[in-house]
Amino acid sequence: MRVLGIETTCDETAAAIVRLKPEGGGEVLADEVMSQIAEHQTYGGVVPELAARAHIEVIDRLIVRAFEAAGCRLADLDGIAAAAGPGLIGGVVIGLTTAKALALAARKPFIAVNHLEAHALTARLSGGLDFPYLLLLVSGGHTQLVAVKGVGNYLRLGATVDDAVGEAFDKIAKVLGLGYPGGPFVEREALKGNPARFDLPRPMLGREKPDFSFSGLKTAVRLEAERIAPLTSADVADLCASFQAAVIDTLADRLRAGLRVFGDRVGPCQTMVVAGGVAANNAIRRALMRFCGEAGLRLVVPPIPLCTDNGTMIAWAGIERLTLGLSDDMTFAARPRWPLDAEGEAAHHGKA
Ligand code: KG4
Ligand code: ZN
Repeated sequence: MRVLGIETTCDETAAAIVRLKPEGGGEVLADEVMSQIAEHQTYGGVVPELAARAHIEVIDRLIVRAFEAAGCRLADLDGIAAAAGPGLIGGVVIGLTTAKALALAARKPFIAVNHLEAHALTARLSGGLDFPYLLLLVSGGHTQLVAVKGVGNYLRLGATVDDAVGEAFDKIAKVLGLGYPGGPFVEREALKGNPARFDLPRPMLGREKPDFSFSGLKTAVRLEAERIAPLTSADVADLCASFQAAVIDTLADRLRAGLRVFGDRVGPCQTMVVAGGVAANNAIRRALMRFCGEAGLRLVVPPIPLCTDNGTMIAWAGIERLTLGLSDDMTFAARPRWPLDAEGEAAHHGKA
């Protein structure tokens, strides 16, 4: 089975072709990504209109490149998948319409993939990962803890009530005059700084429900920066180190709460999977390793290009769904919001 996956929900345009191996797991035949970082850099964040235009400009070429890299044609595919949300609607529509058009033209199944589900399932691409597991999704757009019980079977244990953790890194980088996206810059500065210099808040510490909050922490960093301005390079490094330490403490505490809820509602947890661009942060990865070691959990962190937004994860989620006989029809509309689980879905429709 071979599936093309298209991703356009944020600021990466991506197309990939993945083959299901007979022994399970996937082989990536092509993985093309075009990042729009340069377009958004001057604004310090993603500008939706610019993103949509950039997706349109490159998507056709990118898909052609994916076919060339994979050495196959449209007719060789068994399905075409696109991320149908959640995300910036202008971009989602472009990937979704492209996938529908290809599926119609080639008379192939079309699969509308939830971008969060794709993050949740990617770790299974390399094989050897069974359900259930705990997913920590930490990206620029999302911060969630999810119990992954099966394909299409998710329980959202907690999520951020305000900023995503990557978003906090980006905003702090902006305040401190560092580059965009902020994560790698803040991490680099933090290496040189003193994590104990600033006494920053650890939001949500001790709360039973494994939710997250990063807006207060971000504000605290900004206020400290304003208080001691003008900033020396040592001040910037100390602020970054103190911020990163607060993030690490918060994540560990929220994970402890998440594990408790997982135990109550799903059963014993053996594996934790991390996804999202923030997983690229070495200090955070080390902290997660420590956490999992202490909690007796196996930690699975997919290679960083698979943690950030990519086409492979959409193609793989397409394969997982298609294997179960799941596909969608052409009426499937793009969804700016699309909670992963039934409870979130009910809340979204005002029923809970
Ligand atoms: O998953 P991703 O590529 O895109 C989405 O947001 O969906 O994640 C991007 C986020 C950005 O907020 C970026 O600052 C953050 O991941 N990030 C990092 C690091 N590298 C990327 N955050 C902390 N440390 C890093 N090294
Ligand atoms: Zn993502």
